[in-house]
Amino acid sequence: MNPSLPGRATPKPPQSNPRTRRLSGRLRAMISDPSSPTAPFARRVRSFVRRAGRLTPAQARALEVLGPGRLLPGAGGRLELDAVFGRTAPRVLEIGFGDGEALVAMARRLPDVDFLGLEVHEPGVGHLLLRLEAEGLTNVRLICHDAAEVIEHRLPVDAFAAINIFFPDPWPKKRHHKRRLVQPPLIGALAQLQVTDGLLHLATDWVPYAEHMAEVLATRPEYRRIEDGEVAAEPLAWRPETKFERRGLKLGHEVRDLFYRKV
Ligand SMILES: C[S@@+](CC[C@H](N)C(=O)[O-])C[C@H]1O[C@@H](n2cnc3c(N)ncnc32)[C@H](O)[C@@H]1O
Repeated sequence: MNPSLPGRATPKPPQSNPRTRRLSGRLRAMISDPSSPTAPFARRVRSFVRRAGRLTPAQARALEVLGPGRLLPGAGGRLELDAVFGRTAPRVLEIGFGDGEALVAMARRLPDVDFLGLEVHEPGVGHLLLRLEAEGLTNVRLICHDAAEVIEHRLPVDAFAAINIFFPDPWPKKRHHKRRLVQPPLIGALAQLQVTDGLLHLATDWVPYAEHMAEVLATRPEYRRIEDGEVAAEPLAWRPETKFERRGLKLGHEVRDLFYRKV
C-alpha cells in the first residue's frame, strides 16, 4: 500500500524486536530481523517463525561480548572465508543448528575443519557462543539470519566440503509444506556452494519429510544419492545425536539420514 495516497493511514513506525531490544545497536544490526517489513525478500515464504523464548542475560551478554569475531553480519557482500577463518581448511556449513550442541561436538572432533553455522533463533546463537567459549573452539563462525538470504548473497561458490541440515522444521500440515526448507531452488543454490564430491547430509525424524527430501533431490542433477555404507568412514559424514532428534525419538519417531554427493 502506498501510504502517501490520500485517505491512507500513516504506517506505524517499526517496533523494535523484544528479543533483541536489550542488545546494543551495533549488535542489533548484525542480528538483522528478517521479519522486519524493510528486510529484503520480505515476501519470500519463510521456513521459520520467530519462536517464543527470550534471550537469557547470559546469552545476551554472549552475543555482545563473544559475538565480535565469531558472529558475522547477515547482510553484506560475499564472504572471503580464508580471511574469516584466518586459514585455508575444508569447510562445513550447517543450516538451522538450533542450540548448536551438534556443531560443538563436530567442531571439537574435527579441529582441522572450519564450521559455519546459520540460525535465526538468537537464544540458540547465544547458547552456542557460550559453549564455543567454554570449550575454546576457534574453528566455528556463525550468522544469525535467514539461511535462504545468506546462501543467496553472502556465501561464496565452491566453498564447502559438506553441508548439513539436521532435523529442519517438518511443517507437517499440507498447507505449510511450502515452508519446508528443503525445496528445489534451495538445493540448487546449495549445489553452487559445494565443491565437487562434496557431501550433503540431511536428517529428519519425520518420514513424510524424508520422502519429500528424496523427491526434491531426485529433481536435482547436481546431486546423486549415496548409501550410508559409502560414507561410513568419512569424518565429515559423522553427526552426533541432536536435541530435536532426541525429542523425536522420545515421541517414537523414526530417524532417517540421507546422503548425497555433489557431482
Ligand atoms: C527443528 S529445529 C532443529 C535444530 C537442530 N538442527 C537440532 O536438530 O536440534 C530447526 C532449526 O532451524 C532453524 N531455521 C529454520 N529455518 C531457518 C532459516 N531459514 N535460516 C536459519 N535457520 C533456520 C530454526 O530456527 C530451528 O532452530
